[in-house]
Amino acid sequence: MANELTLLDHPLVRHHLGVVRDRRTPPAVFRQTVYSLTTLLAYEATQDLRTAPCDIVTPIAPARVERLAGRIAVVPILRAGLGMTPAIMDLLPEAEIWHLGFYRDDATLQPVEYYKKLPPGNPADVGLIIDPMLATGGSCLAAIAALRHWGVPRLKLCALLAAPEGIARVQVAAPDTQIYVCAVDERLNENAYIVPGLGDAGDRLSNAVAH
Ligand code: PRP
Ligand code: URA
Repeated sequence: MANELTLLDHPLVRHHLGVVRDRRTPPAVFRQTVYSLTTLLAYEATQDLRTAPCDIVTPIAPARVERLAGRIAVVPILRAGLGMTPAIMDLLPEAEIWHLGFYRDDATLQPVEYYKKLPPGNPADVGLIIDPMLATGGSCLAAIAALRHWGVPRLKLCALLAAPEGIARVQVAAPDTQIYVCAVDERLNENAYIVPGLGDAGDRLSNAVAH
């Protein structure tokens, strides 16, 4: 069975996507807007997280409240996933962060692993993979494989933009990973960049575009 794809449909998402897509948007505004979009995306992606009751005392009286249950691993794919991390961690301050480093080889388009330090054993209960761009799906599938190997039973993927090709590939190869995206674009170009997309997310977040 194909995994569930949640495509955000909200005026704020459409507005902020217009800002990040615009080539004139300066890096500081780009980063701030990635923060805003990630917050909106995380609201959707976390709506089925488990909570557990907890007894506390307010300044007025004892009360039974709810707290998130289980260990949540936020997994940014370097570099561009770093741009989404602050927004997620502001919403999930007790989550763990486990970085995975992959860059996409320009010639082969295959993800090349350069950083992975997941601990042996004792996996988190939920893995929330964050990367602004789901293009061919190679980087995301490499992250899914790493988290599966660690033993994480439940995986979610949050991306700002996705190409239909990448979504289809993840749906076939990792049917139990839930996918959340702000937009599904038209296609990939000959260099496997998303069209119309927003360009190179890592470069724009890092202010590393050619001047
Ligand atoms: C980008 C992006 C994804 C990947 C998507 O990273 O952030 O990780 O490409 O492409 P794919 O779906 O075809 O694998 P990139 O490899 O450019 O590295 P960076 O984040 O360091 O810029
Ligand atoms: N990586 C990016 O940063 N942008 C794309 O459009 C595709 C891959």
